[in-house]
Amino acid sequence: MTAIAKAVMPVAGLGTRFLSVTKAVPKEMLPVLNKPLVQYAVEEAFAAGIEQILFVNGRGKNALEDFFDHAPELEARLAESGKTALLSRIESTVPAGGQFAFVRQTKPLGFGHAVLCAKNWVQNEPFAILLPDDLMMCDQPCIKQLADQYDLSMGNMAAVVDVAPHAVSAYGVLDIASQKGDLLQTKGVVEKPTTEQAPSTKAIIGRYILHPDIFKVLETQQPGVGGEIQLTDALSRMIPTHGLTGLLVHGHRFDCGSVEGMVEAQVAYGLRDPLMGEKIRASLMRWL
Ligand code: UTP
Repeated sequence: MTAIAKAVMPVAGLGTRFLSVTKAVPKEMLPVLNKPLVQYAVEEAFAAGIEQILFVNGRGKNALEDFFDHAPELEARLAESGKTALLSRIESTVPAGGQFAFVRQTKPLGFGHAVLCAKNWVQNEPFAILLPDDLMMCDQPCIKQLADQYDLSMGNMAAVVDVAPHAVSAYGVLDIASQKGDLLQTKGVVEKPTTEQAPSTKAIIGRYILHPDIFKVLETQQPGVGGEIQLTDALSRMIPTHGLTGLLVHGHRFDCGSVEGMVEAQVAYGLRDPLMGEKIRASLMRWL
């Protein structure tokens, strides 16, 4: 096992599926119940033993940096009025000095390009990637499931779920060479295939552990689907030298990059909430 200390969170996308709200609010700051998506991802990373996080941020997304900073006026007001539980809740989002770093992707040239922006910060060690808009409801943190299996000799590793055949066109889909338990060795990966083109229904979701050699490959990666620099294309080029292991992860993934997935997440987290669950269940019955 190789210890994973660093995680990268690319959050510079335009979030067009959530317009109009994403005109002014970063997608990653949208809440499920009372916590923004990015906080769920940070908690998942820390629960997996990750020590440092780099956010690849874009223009107009300062709310993310502010969220992880102190809010002196608000904190003073909560302290004065004795609202200690709320005070500790907002203080708990502020990391220890130096734990978080931010870098700008000055143009949204694609997810692969956002990862390349992390090159100087990551340097020469394997690192995790978490996309906060994939919200994972798991008994064991999703990125920990990967980290527990990862060995540097594996090269690149991606979390995988089984999707319906009609849904494959939204994902990078694995062409599987062999399977051992939950580990899938791949001979190829196809970005956003049609149902007919898809080599399987095993789809990559937004959790990875990557070999630092990915950066050399991304430096020469040409734009792919949608005119964007795709991480999947770089992973595909590395298969002959580094391999690509898919891990079928245990738990449920909510696609909170889509309105439908976000609504599903709100309902699921709401129903499971110990304080509000019963009330929400009763209210929802009215609409069924
Ligand atoms: P998406 O494919 O979900 O794109 O990006 P998007 O722009 O966020 O959303 P839509 O499709 O327009 O609604 C996957 C992840 O990669 C990041 C996004 O922030 C998201 O976490 N990303 C994407 C970047 O950081 N930079 C990019 O240029 C593109």
